[in-house]
Amino acid sequence: METDFNIESFDIKLDTESIARNFIYSEEVISTNSQLLDKASGNIHGTTLLAERQVKGHGRKERQWYSSKGLNLTFSILLTNKKYFGKQINLINFASALAVAVSIESLYQLKTELKWPNDVLINGKKVSGVLIESASKGEKLERVVIGIGLNVNQTNFQGSFNVPPTSLKNESGQSIEREMLLAEFLNVFEEIIEHVVTNPKWILKEWKERCRMLGEKISITEEDKIKYGIFDDIDDDGFLILKTDQGTEKIYYGDLSLA
Ligand code: BTN
Repeated sequence: METDFNIESFDIKLDTESIARNFIYSEEVISTNSQLLDKASGNIHGTTLLAERQVKGHGRKERQWYSSKGLNLTFSILLTNKKYFGKQINLINFASALAVAVSIESLYQLKTELKWPNDVLINGKKVSGVLIESASKGEKLERVVIGIGLNVNQTNFQGSFNVPPTSLKNESGQSIEREMLLAEFLNVFEEIIEHVVTNPKWILKEWKERCRMLGEKISITEEDKIKYGIFDDIDDDGFLILKTDQGTEKIYYGDLSLA
């Protein structure tokens, strides 16, 4: 069953029980992630905030993330339901990137690739990035925000990049309807995010099938340290297993390149 959403100039069709039942369209915010992280914003679980422009849109490692009105999708989804915050919490990142990949594959004739930890690539170039941020009260996690930047119809790119950027339009040679893509993403996301709780192994299996760097010689840069080794696996908790001459090491964070 589907419901029509008529939000300002953004029309999307979502399943009635969609996680994103509270959808907010905004011309400009500081950052969709920062806004949903702020408890004072009073938003409920599943709120999805999309902005045409972010004053301080940011990616990992404090890289700036630019939005171009009407040309891309920059949005965040708020999770407050504690069922997602268990041992498998790191899989939210994998589930979100996977949902971007699956929604692109289901709508367009494009093959996607997933790059640890949070990138979606097409033909070796980055079409989307995911940034998970959280807020806690004491030791207890209260809110997790999934921020997604998706390059849709841009042909020019601003900012600093860990991987050369591209857009769906550049890769498919056609203009993409943003509303259809967002609706597809939200419907796919709603299904996949449940697997964080019910079937985390499935998320990792699907993610790994799209990761071409598995088994390759890689380098991982974190701050000013570089580690080299073989990308052996992603473990059940979502950590990268690096095989080095000294043994294996779990990696939590960093920028990955082929060595
Ligand atoms: C990355 O590739 O480093 C992640 C980029 C994430 C950008 C999105 S755009 C919507 C949301 N709001 C932000 O400030 N950042 C994320």
